[in-house]
Amino acid sequence: MQKQTALLMLCLSFAGEAQEAQEALTDEQQLGKLLYEDQNLSLNRNQSCASCHSLKPVPQNAVAKQVPAFVDPENIKTGGAVSAGSIPDKTGTLNAPTAAYAAFSPLFHWDDVEGLYVGGQFWNGRASDLTEQAKGPFLNPLEMAMPNEWSVVSRLKENKNYRKLFRQVYQLDLNAVPPLNNATTPPAAVADVYQHLAKAIGAFEQSRVFNKFTSKFDYVLAGMTQFTAIEKKGLALFNDADKGNCAACHISEASTDKDGNIIPPMFTDFTYDNIGLPRNVKIPNNPEPNLGLGGRTDIAALDPDGNELGKHKVMSLRNIALTPPYGHNGVLATLEQTVHFYNTRDTLGTVSDNQDAGFAKSGWPAPEVAQNVNHDELGNLGLTADEEKAIVAFMKTLTDDYQKWGKDRRVPPGTPSPFAQVKPPVP
Ligand code: HEC
Ligand code: HEC
Repeated sequence: MQKQTALLMLCLSFAGEAQEAQEALTDEQQLGKLLYEDQNLSLNRNQSCASCHSLKPVPQNAVAKQVPAFVDPENIKTGGAVSAGSIPDKTGTLNAPTAAYAAFSPLFHWDDVEGLYVGGQFWNGRASDLTEQAKGPFLNPLEMAMPNEWSVVSRLKENKNYRKLFRQVYQLDLNAVPPLNNATTPPAAVADVYQHLAKAIGAFEQSRVFNKFTSKFDYVLAGMTQFTAIEKKGLALFNDADKGNCAACHISEASTDKDGNIIPPMFTDFTYDNIGLPRNVKIPNNPEPNLGLGGRTDIAALDPDGNELGKHKVMSLRNIALTPPYGHNGVLATLEQTVHFYNTRDTLGTVSDNQDAGFAKSGWPAPEVAQNVNHDELGNLGLTADEEKAIVAFMKTLTDDYQKWGKDRRVPPGTPSPFAQVKPPVP
């Protein structure tokens, strides 16, 4: 390396560190980080949010070992679709999505113009925002398994640092919450503290840690580097309505805010669809198919014809190369398999289930929820093998921390995000 280049890279990397320091977490976000990583907040003191949405890279390959994926490391290592809970032998029934960029999902709502549901958290959108979402896992018997809010708040009270920080950040006195007892109605203070516990975690998830905008795609969008030929071809196919048609749901176009700043795309429109995924019979205890949006009692009550059955949230494709397996039930093992599924779902042939040796090669099993399967936009794309490969190559440009792993002299280590000003909406 030339001396000058070395010096330039050194300067840039200092600039990068300076920027990271500037973007230090607020007090509330720091509290949220402690809570996010605290295993004491689960029944057997063995699980935290980070157990299933890890802040650390999982070294499955040279790129991945440098970039956190915010999913369950065990799933990546074993290909397993679901996560173990705090109680031994209890597992969930759905694939943990990444917690990165979740902060950009709008509040769950019905869009009158489009005539469909948009936004929310979880595969079925049942939590309106991050705060409401964070209240769920502590009490989920298949996850952190705490019996009630009061017991979670009691665990907070054990910790001197939390007593200090809740006072400092929220003016809440944890000592004022009565000790846990058998009263059927918890003291009013419990709900207040529990709400703020979730709010702090949501604030942490809104920080730069989860929303970096440092993928190769972002640097290309900012004009700082270029795609390779195959990545470029992949993007064109991804966008082409007569080819991959992926961008019909996984939006790839940047938008601008009211001040004219570029907002990079999130690769989702946050709507719901049934792409016809087959059942994943490898999930422990072979649970019944998940009915998604239409399976929610509140939605079902408004949907007598079952128009929302089998629909799951269009997930962001940012960092998608890091987060196998794919889909709400993790039935698709790789990105290659996922694109092949979109391409040939309706043309390949049929196999009984995903344990069949011909799965994804000679055929696909039937969709696990037959209603509302999307036949208009996907399932028979007519892509060649090379075109499938190009779409996969493009999706690999959506992995963050490109300045660390890209070995691209136009974007050396330490290069700041070109979109450092883009922040998730505060609900
Ligand atoms: C045992 C594993 C597990 C634990 C622990 C866990 N999660 Fe999750 N997380 C999941 C699974 C599985 C889903 C999808 C569940 C669903 O859609 O019903 C999910 C969904 C989410 C989502 C929704 C993402 C989106 O785009 O819709 C967010 C955000 C999230 N979790 C954050 C958290 C936080 C914060 C905690 C701690 C309070 C936590 N999770 C604890 C497994 C886990
Ligand atoms: C009609 C809307 C739609 C179109 C078109 C579409 N997708 Fe999706 N995509 C979805 C939905 C909905 C899900 C979640 C489905 C589920 O889990 O049941 C999804 C999930 C995915 C996932 C897995 C996400 C995760 O977190 O596990 C990948 C990868 C993906 N899509 C890539 C693509 C590609 C590549 C194309 C184009 C070939 C494409 N999608 C076209 C709606 C769409």
